Amino acid sequence: MRTEQPKMIYLKDYQAPEYLIDETHLTFELFEDHSLVHAQLVMRRNPARGEGLPPLALDGQQLELLSVKLDDVELPPADYQLTDSHLTLRPQRAQFVVDTSVKIHPETNTALEGLYTSGSLFCTQCEAEGFRKITYYLDRPDVMSIFTTTVIADQHKYPVLLSNGNPVGSGPVEDGRHWATWEDPFKKPAYLFALVAGDLWCVEDTFTTRSNREVALRIYVEPENIDKCQHAMNSLKKSMRWDEDTYGREYDLDIFMIVAVNDFNMGAMENKGLNIFNSSAVLARAETATDAAHQRVEAIVAHEYFHNWSGNRVTCRDWFQLSLKEGFTVFRDAGFSADMNSPTVKRIQDVAYLRTHQFAEDAGPMAHAVRPDSFIEISNFYTLTVYEKGSEVVGMLHTLLGAEGFRKGSDLYFDRHDGQAVTCDDFIKAMEDANGVDLTQFKRWYSQAGTPRLNVTEHYDAAKQTYSLTFAQSCPATPGQTEKLPFVIPVALGLLNANGEELPLHLQGESAAVGTHRVLSVTEAQQTFTFTGMAQQPLPSLLRGFSAPVKLHFPYSRDQLMFLMQHDTDGFNRWEAGQQLAVQVLQDLIGQHQRGEALVMDPRLVAALRSVLGNEQLDQAMVAEMLSLPGEAYLTEISEIADVDAIHAAREFARQHLAESLHEALWARYQANREVSKATPYVAQAEHFARRALQNIALSYLMLTGKPQVLAAALEQFEHSDNMTERLTALAVLVNSPFDAEKAKALASFAEHFKDNPLVMDQWFSVQAGCTLPGGLERVKALMQHPAFTLKNPNKVRALIGAFAGQNLINFHAADGSGYRFLADLVIQLNAFNPQIASRQLAPLTRWRKYDSARQALMKAELERIRTCGDLSSDVFEVVSKSLA
Ligand code: TRP
Ligand code: ZN
Repeated sequence: MRTEQPKMIYLKDYQAPEYLIDETHLTFELFEDHSLVHAQLVMRRNPARGEGLPPLALDGQQLELLSVKLDDVELPPADYQLTDSHLTLRPQRAQFVVDTSVKIHPETNTALEGLYTSGSLFCTQCEAEGFRKITYYLDRPDVMSIFTTTVIADQHKYPVLLSNGNPVGSGPVEDGRHWATWEDPFKKPAYLFALVAGDLWCVEDTFTTRSNREVALRIYVEPENIDKCQHAMNSLKKSMRWDEDTYGREYDLDIFMIVAVNDFNMGAMENKGLNIFNSSAVLARAETATDAAHQRVEAIVAHEYFHNWSGNRVTCRDWFQLSLKEGFTVFRDAGFSADMNSPTVKRIQDVAYLRTHQFAEDAGPMAHAVRPDSFIEISNFYTLTVYEKGSEVVGMLHTLLGAEGFRKGSDLYFDRHDGQAVTCDDFIKAMEDANGVDLTQFKRWYSQAGTPRLNVTEHYDAAKQTYSLTFAQSCPATPGQTEKLPFVIPVALGLLNANGEELPLHLQGESAAVGTHRVLSVTEAQQTFTFTGMAQQPLPSLLRGFSAPVKLHFPYSRDQLMFLMQHDTDGFNRWEAGQQLAVQVLQDLIGQHQRGEALVMDPRLVAALRSVLGNEQLDQAMVAEMLSLPGEAYLTEISEIADVDAIHAAREFARQHLAESLHEALWARYQANREVSKATPYVAQAEHFARRALQNIALSYLMLTGKPQVLAAALEQFEHSDNMTERLTALAVLVNSPFDAEKAKALASFAEHFKDNPLVMDQWFSVQAGCTLPGGLERVKALMQHPAFTLKNPNKVRALIGAFAGQNLINFHAADGSGYRFLADLVIQLNAFNPQIASRQLAPLTRWRKYDSARQALMKAELERIRTCGDLSSDVFEVVSKSLA
């Protein structure tokens, strides 16, 4: 907590560090009521900063300084300066050694940043600026050092003592304590430091790298979870192989460890050789984790592993460059997940997520470029824009350069910058140099915020047999950026004839056609491309695979969208056509609701989905995706002013209407798939995910009909499934149904059965938080009193509060403002002990511009109440002040 107003930090002010740290020797003495940290820093003047010896300001927060030595001489207080953020020394030589001892309190660290306890474990989270809560240091990513770490703790309570690198020694000390020393031979910034101590069991395996080195793999968990590690271990081995095959990247230490902890602010952390994971991102087995959870574990294990190269071996110069490692690593993990499962389904899910959540962020008060140029609190910039849009930007490079050109660029990048802390410009430069291209204009994707709009119009000239597409791009103003220059927008496309066949693409001025699928580079504010040899007017399939993160507008008729749904060779665009059709139909219904008319649904959407449902050739996961209507949050995002009630009413009406119209087909596919599920043991693989996805979406539609045989089916699935995917969906459909007795019974039996498994209880909370029936806020408040709930655990906060405010829009946006008041109260409470979580939970209130004036006023009043509640963390301060600016 601070009293003075937090300061804005600017990219343009970047300066290289005055001093460097070649070696870092740490000793931790862990006790129950405090810990001691001794640090020996072997330092020197940074030659790049010239002559002279300026003051050395070491970062440090919430540390009790016990002693400080310079070159082995203890300094009296007159020889240093101490504030609540820095320890400043006056070095006398260009090379010197600093020794400090500090006392810290991991046992009362509720912010989960720095060294803290989670249950009976000690663990760390240092990214971005947590290391300064452990010891005095140059806590910035461009200061890279070799680390040696000794941990000393009670032998009985903390038999396992871990840190980065390789173990080099261990043994007992007096009083039942013991020690272990670890050496990390790779230079790294402090944010990649990690330490773990506790009573952990581990699952072990090995991986042989392509140059035949054997790597020990270990996943450490609390003993009761030892049976839930195999999926993560399989994912790790697949990731290691994939990164060798796809990027030529080999692992570099003799051991790779993952530790699961229950209290963690994010998903996981890529500390060198010692990844620390939220237990929700490691633990998975059929009985307790859904298919989605299995896929999330696989993706996060891969993501953190891939950081070993994209993040650790080559790291960021400063935190403005965060997307250098995060955007690239998300792109890498998306490629991995696509290869392990269904590429089209993976792409659909990622795009739906980006368009719902990142587009909303990009249109709100916290909008920022992929490489922001200023921030108050870096923890607020681990955003959808830096991660997801950053990945799209890397993806566009891949599209423009082709797989081979991209690989040449990534090879050059890793080779050129191994062991360095670099910038997004360095990444682009490697892509340019490896391919002999100029990406100057492309770099605007890093510096300009906001989602570009791409309007496309067509012109067919029957006499000349030419077909022209005109692209007009524009980008809305975002905070601090009013004028935007044109982006480079790769538009992947094809042209279909009336039989649904792809036509050869012959651009005017070219000597011949170049394939039937190609990528146009739109670089100007307005630009026309003309295709020749068009005997008939074609139908364009635009932005295939969502080749750029833009809002595309083309005046498709509903019949054309139905045609694309059936015929497009691009699977992503078949889904996209269905979504656009659904959006048009839902927008009709929203209008009818607003005008007080009876709702009447366009039968073409029913017909289109009937044909999808009847198509046994289609991948079942695709059928499930196509049956999923655009969510309320997406419908909100694409509205100028969102009408919460109309959106909910329209979408529910459409679901009900589809359920009744398609009842027979849904029931047939439900039953067929449920029979296979009953006869098949659980397998975490794409075709099984697909079967269960279709089965479950069918059940959720069917339940809307309220038919007795559907209720019986839901109860059967709830009671007899051997896996959480089927059981949880059955629970969710019961919870959202009018069958109060069955619902209460199911909720109670589920809680009784899983009361000792916190990750399963999180799902139980989420299902209820998401229930859109009236009375949502009261249910959430009651659940907060449940013995399994605590605000101190971020997973619990996300499961209950996050799910309510982020997914239960009709209840959260109650017209009386009760949802807003509730969320603001919680943010004020969370701010006092976990600023990062407080700030993240605030996001729904920052979207106030999307709502009617009455709701706007209520939301702003709550933001104002938070702003003036006193003792704001820099995290919450930044979000509320920018939201109200
Ligand atoms: N680098 C982590 C990742 O790969 C992000 C992360 C984990 C993080 N824990 C954090 C960021 C705490 C900020 C604060 O996704
Ligand atoms: Zn990451």
